[in-house]
Amino acid sequence: MGICDSTMELSGTLLAMVFFFFSDAASTIQYLAYFSETGDLPCHFIKPQNTSLDELVVFWQDQHNRVLYELYKGKEKPENVNLMYKGRTSLDQDNWTLRLHDVQIKDRGLYQCYVHRQGPNGLVSIHNKKTNLFVLANFSQPEISLVSNRTENSDNINLTCLSTKGYPEPKKMFIVLNTENSTTEYNAVMNIFQDNVTELYNVSVSLSLPVSPEANVSIFCDLEPKLTQTRLRSQPYNIDAKSRNTRQLFTDHGILITTLPVLLSIVCVMVFSLIVKKRKKKQPGPSHECEVIETEGEEN
Ligand SMILES: *[C@@H]1O[C@H](CO)[C@@H](O)[C@H](O)[C@H]1NC(C)=O
Ligand SMILES: *[C@@H]1O[C@H](CO)[C@@H](O)[C@H](O)[C@H]1NC(C)=O
Ligand SMILES: *[C@@H]1O[C@H](CO)[C@@H](O)[C@H](O)[C@H]1NC(C)=O
Ligand SMILES: *[C@@H]1O[C@H](CO)[C@@H](O)[C@H](O)[C@H]1NC(C)=O
Ligand SMILES: *[C@@H]1O[C@H](CO)[C@@H](O)[C@H](O)[C@H]1NC(C)=O
Ligand SMILES: *[C@@H]1O[C@H](CO)[C@@H](O)[C@H](O)[C@H]1NC(C)=O
Ligand SMILES: *[C@@H]1O[C@H](CO)[C@@H](O)[C@H](O)[C@H]1NC(C)=O
Ligand SMILES: *[C@@H]1O[C@H](CO)[C@@H](O)[C@H](O)[C@H]1NC(C)=O
Repeated sequence: MGICDSTMELSGTLLAMVFFFFSDAASTIQYLAYFSETGDLPCHFIKPQNTSLDELVVFWQDQHNRVLYELYKGKEKPENVNLMYKGRTSLDQDNWTLRLHDVQIKDRGLYQCYVHRQGPNGLVSIHNKKTNLFVLANFSQPEISLVSNRTENSDNINLTCLSTKGYPEPKKMFIVLNTENSTTEYNAVMNIFQDNVTELYNVSVSLSLPVSPEANVSIFCDLEPKLTQTRLRSQPYNIDAKSRNTRQLFTDHGILITTLPVLLSIVCVMVFSLIVKKRKKKQPGPSHECEVIETEGEEN
């Protein structure tokens, strides 16, 4: 029974995960493999004790009837194996599981294992098993990059978040903005790019976010994949309240324009006082600012 088989797989394997699809035939096992790693295609065959390997023909086929592997009366038959599976399989004879190496996205789909026995009137089918192989690729940790800073006219920053080389398409990607007192989620339409060769996806979002100049903020980018449970979160992108104010002093023309005349007049007064003092020659050597101001007062 499919359900019993599935439960056995669940406890027996680490990398493989099992899914129940009740609409499928009960005998189909759902198996999961990671991109570029190894996938298991179990046959669940137990060889009867009164039967020798020399009487058996065992082989695996994909959904297009291409042969992955064949064991013909105890001997491997590589000449029957389809080119796309040559050198990519190995049989675990203890539990009749075929291992498919370097799994690609296009390897997802239905596989079937067949066992035939040589009888007096030719080969007789004695066992077969279907396996549905899912292929997953973990997305990379999302990365935030700044597109444009806040300006004098706008407290918005524009940013992009990117995660690469995953499969299948993720559920969603969104931005989380944390301040001391608040957490705000920003959803955006995901841009999805698929590589023609590997069929892996890159996803990104681009957003314009209001960032209050008074608060320290931490921005995160979260990706929710479809089949793996774990949500992926970017490193925090921090914007400090203080550094924003310092930056504004130098970039805000309004402040520069109002402070420039003040600075200029202070310099003028100092230079003027020095000249006056030198003429009077009351004190030899350099003097400091307060004495300069005193001298000026006496003059007036
Ligand atoms: C078959 O046995 C190997 C170890 O001998 C194990 O790694 C693998 O998970 C087993 N497969 C199944 C389907 O039980
Ligand atoms: C092996 O034993 C089973 C019953 O356990 C029987 O049905 C089958 O025909 C036997 N096979 C051979 C090759 O004797
Ligand atoms: C944004 O401002 C910071 C701090 O002034 C600066 O280091 C960074 O290069 C700026 N980035 C962009 C994209 O303008
Ligand atoms: C996906 O991202 C990777 C790594 O940044 C890059 O090499 C590749 O070209 C991108 N593919 C697509 C289809 O955008
Ligand atoms: C930031 O994004 C908004 C909305 O997409 C856009 O209108 C604005 O021009 C962008 N600002 C900069 C400086 O690129
Ligand atoms: C921002 O963080 C700094 C320390 O990183 C802290 O000294 C400052 O008080 C914080 N400012 C606000 C507005 O929370
Ligand atoms: C957060 O809340 C506290 C208490 O209500 C307040 O004093 C503080 O200014 C708030 N901080 C920000 C960044 O809004
Ligand atoms: C993919 O991620 C899952 C959970 O997040 C983890 O268990 C698994 O080992 C990862 N696989 C690979 C190949 O990195």
